[in-house]
Amino acid sequence: MSFCLVGCRYSGRGCFTKLKANTSDPEPFIYMAKPMIAGNWKSYVTSTKEAKKLFKDIEKGLPRQLKADVVLFPPSLLLHPLARNYSGKRISFGAQDIFFESGAHTGETPALLAKDVGARYALIGHAEKRAQGETDETVAKKVGAALDAKLTPVVAFGESSRDKNGEYLEDLARSILESLALVDVLSLKKVILAYEPVWAIGAPLPPTGRTIRHTMIFIRKTLAQKFKREDALKVRILYGGAVNEESALEIIQNGETGGFLLGRASIHADSFTSIVSQWATK
Ligand code: 13P
Repeated sequence: MSFCLVGCRYSGRGCFTKLKANTSDPEPFIYMAKPMIAGNWKSYVTSTKEAKKLFKDIEKGLPRQLKADVVLFPPSLLLHPLARNYSGKRISFGAQDIFFESGAHTGETPALLAKDVGARYALIGHAEKRAQGETDETVAKKVGAALDAKLTPVVAFGESSRDKNGEYLEDLARSILESLALVDVLSLKKVILAYEPVWAIGAPLPPTGRTIRHTMIFIRKTLAQKFKREDALKVRILYGGAVNEESALEIIQNGETGGFLLGRASIHADSFTSIVSQWATK
C-alpha cells in the first residue's frame, strides 16, 4: 500500500487532515490509499441460495476498473459456501465476529476456523455485539486473536449518543484505546477501524460529511496519543451508519474516511455496487 501526503482540499479520495488542536477549520492532506467498501450482511440473508444470488449480482455489478478493496461480511455459516466457489480476486470475505480462543465455547467461531473457511477479515466489536454485552476488553482479545490468525481485524466502535458539551468524546477515546490495547506499533498497520455511531446505525439518514470528518480527526488524534502521529495518520478508518446510494457521495467528498462499512445498502446489489462505483472508479 502506498501513501502520498500532499496538500489538497477535499478531493474525495481518502483525504485526511492535519491533527490540529482546534478542528473547526482543518487543513487536509491527501491520503492515497485505496478505499475499502465493506458490506455487513448482518442476519438479513437467510439461505445459501439467497446469499449466492446476492453475491453473484454484486460481482456482476462491480465496475470493471475496480480501485477499491471490496469486502463482504456474510453470516459465518455462509462463508464457506461462498468462498469455496469463488476463485476471483475482486471480492474478499470477512467473518462478522470471531472468538479469541478455541475450546469449550458453544456457538462461537474461533479465529483460525474463520480463516480456514475463507475469511481474510474479521469484524470485531460491532455495535450490535456490544449491545449484547461485548466489552472493550473482549474486543481487544479478539483483535489480538485475529492478528495471530493472520486475519485483518476491522475494529468497530462508536458513541451511543452525543451531548452538547462533547463529553461523549472521552468515552469514545477510551473505547478506541482499550479496544486496541493489544495492538503495537508494528501491528497497527494491519488493523482497520470502523467508526459507526450507534445513533446512525439503522437510521434514515447518516450525519453530514463534515460531522464525520470532525470525528475522523478526533479518532486520529486519539490514535496519536498511543502511536506515532505518522502511524496514526496511516490507519484506514471506515465510516458506517445509514449510508446509502443518495448520501454516499457527500460523505466521500467531505468525510475524509478510508471507505464505508455498509449495512442495509449491502444487501441490495444495485445500491452496493453503485456506492463502490461512486468512490472507486475515480
Ligand atoms: P446501516 O447501514 O444499515 O445503518 O448499518 C450500518 C452497520 O451497522 C454496518 O456495520
